[in-house]
Amino acid sequence: MKRNLICGLDIGTSSVRAIVGEMNLDGTTNIIGVGTSPSNGLKKGVIVDLDKTVEAIIDAVEEAERMVGTSIPTAFLSIVGSQIGLVNNRGVVAVTGEDREISEEDVERVLQAAKVIALPPDREIIDVIPREFILDGYDGIHDPVGMVGVRLEVDAMIITGMVSSLRNLYRCVERAGLEIEGVVLSALANAEVALTRDEKELGTVLIDIGGGVTEISVFQNGYLKSIATLPVGGDHITNDIAVGLQTTLHNAEKIKLDHGVSMQHLVPEGATMELPHIAGKTTREIPLQELAMIIESRLMEILHMAYEELVELGYPDPLPAGIVLTGGVSLTPGLVELAEQIFQTSARVAQPSYMGVKSPIYSTAVGIIRYVQHTQMHLLSEYRGGRAGLPGFFEKVRNWFLEMFD
Ligand SMILES: Nc1ncnc2c1ncn2[C@@H]1O[C@H](COP(=O)(O)OP(=O)(O)OP(=O)(O)O)[C@@H](O)[C@H]1O
Ligand SMILES: [Mg+2]
Repeated sequence: MKRNLICGLDIGTSSVRAIVGEMNLDGTTNIIGVGTSPSNGLKKGVIVDLDKTVEAIIDAVEEAERMVGTSIPTAFLSIVGSQIGLVNNRGVVAVTGEDREISEEDVERVLQAAKVIALPPDREIIDVIPREFILDGYDGIHDPVGMVGVRLEVDAMIITGMVSSLRNLYRCVERAGLEIEGVVLSALANAEVALTRDEKELGTVLIDIGGGVTEISVFQNGYLKSIATLPVGGDHITNDIAVGLQTTLHNAEKIKLDHGVSMQHLVPEGATMELPHIAGKTTREIPLQELAMIIESRLMEILHMAYEELVELGYPDPLPAGIVLTGGVSLTPGLVELAEQIFQTSARVAQPSYMGVKSPIYSTAVGIIRYVQHTQMHLLSEYRGGRAGLPGFFEKVRNWFLEMFD
């Protein structure tokens, strides 16, 4: 049996995560491989040390390979919002088929036409996302294939990336022995697992708080509207704890995970923890209130900064579907309550629902797989139907399987 496998690689500031998903023809996904490795080569989401990043990628991928029981030749990557730009553009083509029926090729051509924009030399296009198609003046069309018309237009969002940072990302992945199949904007990957169709439609703010980066993205009318990133995250909380309680970063991280909460009032009266001195074997007793105060102040700062970004982007009022939180920091108990206070709207934490990856730390990596599957579904069904002329990248996916199972 041939299986359609793809690998999603999330190269984050805290960890590199490699996830292998099996794409089923009914649109569902099984997660069959998971690999994680601590990442030391990034600062604020940007690669600063190639060797360390390559090592972390190799470790994560090898772990996933052991689970899957086969080598992983290719991967899809995520890229953070600070590295990208969004540009809206339109494309238009004449429908060529004799019967004027719109084919996959017409859609491909109109998307290519939308890609024609003047780009500064330091930027390149990483993705084109159709918002709607317009056929002979009628707008609001999501999938024009099979419809009949003469003039096909698309209203698309072009995602551009900084050439230099993309090169470093590609270089690391290639040096780790993987071929790159595509790049997915992390906000779009997260949204695949974190947001419902209704939330995207009504309007919601997705906040991914990772180790070094907080990414804020606004979805409305079904689309990604805006994106902003802040160079702050859970590492700053760990740092504050190390400084505030005079302990090592290693200890600070551990007590944050073991005892940390988002708000002081969540700590039971008089609760304490034992903290070893930096040097020596003795320990001292620390009130958990003190720990919670340090975490609360930093989280409030991060959320306030996120709020200010939203105001700047033109969203001073809460959106109808509220706030959705994801990323490692969203595991801090009480964060939902804190976010609801600051944003004055409802909030929830989102995570993938698949066995083995049910944690917001996996949202981006699992989201990459969902995004690819979602955007490539038509190719998958075409492949199944045995039609020729598959666009390049799915062909590669197919090759992986042919090599594996034939
Ligand atoms: N249970 C937990 N409680 C509190 N914080 C947590 C918990 N688990 C992980 N974190 C924090 O989440 C952060 C890592 O999150 P995540 O794995 O989403 O980051 P990343 O994707 O590697 O980095 P980034 O997206 O910033 O580049 C770390 O600061 C870690 O301490
Ligand atoms: Mg992340």
